[in-house]
Amino acid sequence: MGDFLLSIENLGVSYPGTVGLFSNKRIPILKDISLSVKKGETLGIVGESGSGKTTLGRSIVRLIPIDMGRISFEHCCISELSEDAFLPYRRKIQMVFQDPFDSLNPKMTIEQILEEPLAIHFPQLSRFKRRRRMLNLLDRVKLPKTYLKHYPDALSGGQRQRIGIARALAVEPEILICDEPVSALDVSIQAAIMNLLKDLQAELKLTYLFISHDMAIVRYISDAVAVMQNGRIIEQGSVESIYKNPRKDYTKQLLAAVPRL
Ligand SMILES: Nc1ncnc2c1ncn2[C@@H]1O[C@H](COP(=O)(O)OP(=O)(O)OP(=O)(O)O)[C@@H](O)[C@H]1O
Ligand SMILES: [Mg+2]
Repeated sequence: MGDFLLSIENLGVSYPGTVGLFSNKRIPILKDISLSVKKGETLGIVGESGSGKTTLGRSIVRLIPIDMGRISFEHCCISELSEDAFLPYRRKIQMVFQDPFDSLNPKMTIEQILEEPLAIHFPQLSRFKRRRRMLNLLDRVKLPKTYLKHYPDALSGGQRQRIGIARALAVEPEILICDEPVSALDVSIQAAIMNLLKDLQAELKLTYLFISHDMAIVRYISDAVAVMQNGRIIEQGSVESIYKNPRKDYTKQLLAAVPRL
């Protein structure tokens, strides 16, 4: 497996059919997905809406059950672990979600939001140490310490996504699965968040699985890219090879649709 941190082999995921006659029939969503992410690198996942990008990210962290295939992390087949045995990997594999307006509980202060994962994964930490960690986290995502007392609705979209990132980092993960982390933000703020993610990756030696429909953003952050269409990976390779010599028409169309490139 080389120096891969995360490897997926022949992953299959389906959703239950919803209506009438078809209620027992499952609808295949991810079909025979295989990919690997090298430690310290970013694998970008691109594809049109509905191609299965979110389903892929969520199935890795068990928000969606898998039907077949294997997911390995640090050479351990984590898809076969019991829920208890999986707990350490819940810490190591964190998600950053698309919509910072939805993903933070409006009734919790930033302090409570950041404290929750610490209480779960580091229950032995004293209150003092926990607080020091939370202040460090705010520092890392370049927000003032006073924000601990705020509620999410006092923050802008970009600031909320910084909290989403801080919450993911609170438990010292190895890999972040970023699912369209800047799609809900103004273009002017997107660049600042992308730069932050890039800086954090270098500082903390993080590995990223970076999901986006925006080919320009994926190019900026990725070392390798996998192109998804209709639940399959139709093409994958280094950023250079995908952006300079795309083989599939679908990839060419995705690239042609981005004037900013
Ligand atoms: N809970 C669900 N039940 C049934 N089908 C679902 C469910 N969630 C997603 N799907 C279907 O699975 C397919 C893949 O959806 P998914 O959200 O993974 O795509 P995506 O690539 O993330 O799209 P987008 O770019 O719009 O976020 C779609 O056809 C979608 O309709
Ligand atoms: Mg999605």
